[in-house]
Amino acid sequence: MRLWRKNKSLIYTLLPPQNPASSAGLSYTLGMGGIAVMAALITTVTGALLMFYYEPTLQGAYPSLVFIDSVVYLGRFTRALHYWAAQAMVVAVVIHTARIVFTGGYRPPRDVNWFIGLGLLLVTLVWNFSGYALRYDAGSIWALLVGTNLLKELPVVGSTLYVLIVGGQTLGPATILRFYAWHVFALTLLGLGGIGYHLWRVRVDGGLSRPDWTAGQVRRFVPPETILFRELITGLVLTAGLVLLSTFAPPRLGPPADLNRVSGEVVQAPWFFLAIQWLLRYFSPLWAGWLIPLAGLVLLAVLPLVDRRGPGRGRWFARERWLPQVAFGGLLVLIVILSLLELWQGG
Ligand code: HEM
Repeated sequence: MRLWRKNKSLIYTLLPPQNPASSAGLSYTLGMGGIAVMAALITTVTGALLMFYYEPTLQGAYPSLVFIDSVVYLGRFTRALHYWAAQAMVVAVVIHTARIVFTGGYRPPRDVNWFIGLGLLLVTLVWNFSGYALRYDAGSIWALLVGTNLLKELPVVGSTLYVLIVGGQTLGPATILRFYAWHVFALTLLGLGGIGYHLWRVRVDGGLSRPDWTAGQVRRFVPPETILFRELITGLVLTAGLVLLSTFAPPRLGPPADLNRVSGEVVQAPWFFLAIQWLLRYFSPLWAGWLIPLAGLVLLAVLPLVDRRGPGRGRWFARERWLPQVAFGGLLVLIVILSLLELWQGG
């Protein structure tokens, strides 16, 4: 199949055929959905290259990363690109979610895609977290221990889930292999499959959200190639930024992990886990790791159920929809404050 032939190609089929001009510009979408797609693709390709050298065992993981960094041709660059593209994906997905809230893009008929998006948000975070654990250095072992112990806190299914994910009653030889399988197979499949479905739904839902047409208004549309061109430019700018970061700021490995000497060692969660790390200081693991984050997720999930119709869709910061925007903005500010507090208190 030709990748690009007007009306008949795969890419053309994925894009909405008609797009209201008011929603097709970068000033409306910020290009963040496209950036997240690009970052996911770069992460997948560089991850596939790393698989040729990474060894998913307790003894082999860390030395294989040292080997990639110091011996393999372009190894350090490939690992850095993988790392930075994964971070860019988390940032882009969060800003993308904010743009959907602040433009009211979750209202029906886009509510289904909102729920799929929430699933993608979770997959993106777990995908990133599982990759961080594969480093198996002194910093990531703490995150691995704390993250997996949170699973045990879940009532009823906790212990079964722990064994399923960790590969035993405690962290051990099977753990890295399990995380590797989740990271490179299950989560990649869920992530890329989910993104494909999410994009197709944008088309099924009638293209991007827009303000309701008023009588006598001139309806202006742009063709799919205009959107594709804009997203391509944004994607190229992102790639250039990632190449620069990967060249000049490759991620450093800490000292190798030692399962017997975790407490008091370097404690370093991934940056998007900092707020939970702070909560863990003051609340029980069940509250800090599950109930409070779940409350935030429920707040997001109910948005299209409580704010369904009325004026104010397809416009940034519409006053008519002030409540969901204030609730979401408050949640975001709270997460940033807790993360900063953790950085400050963690020294
Ligand atoms: C891997 C993560 C994601 C990718 C790659 C992705 C990609 C995209 C793209 C390319 C679009 C088209 C318009 C745009 O760029 O703004 C879009 C639209 C949309 N996304 Fe996402 N998205 C992701 C995650 C999310 C999340 C976390 C949510 C919300 C919780 C979400 C909800 C939506 C909705 C409701 C639309 C339609 C918006 C409208 O018509 O205005 N997406 N997404």
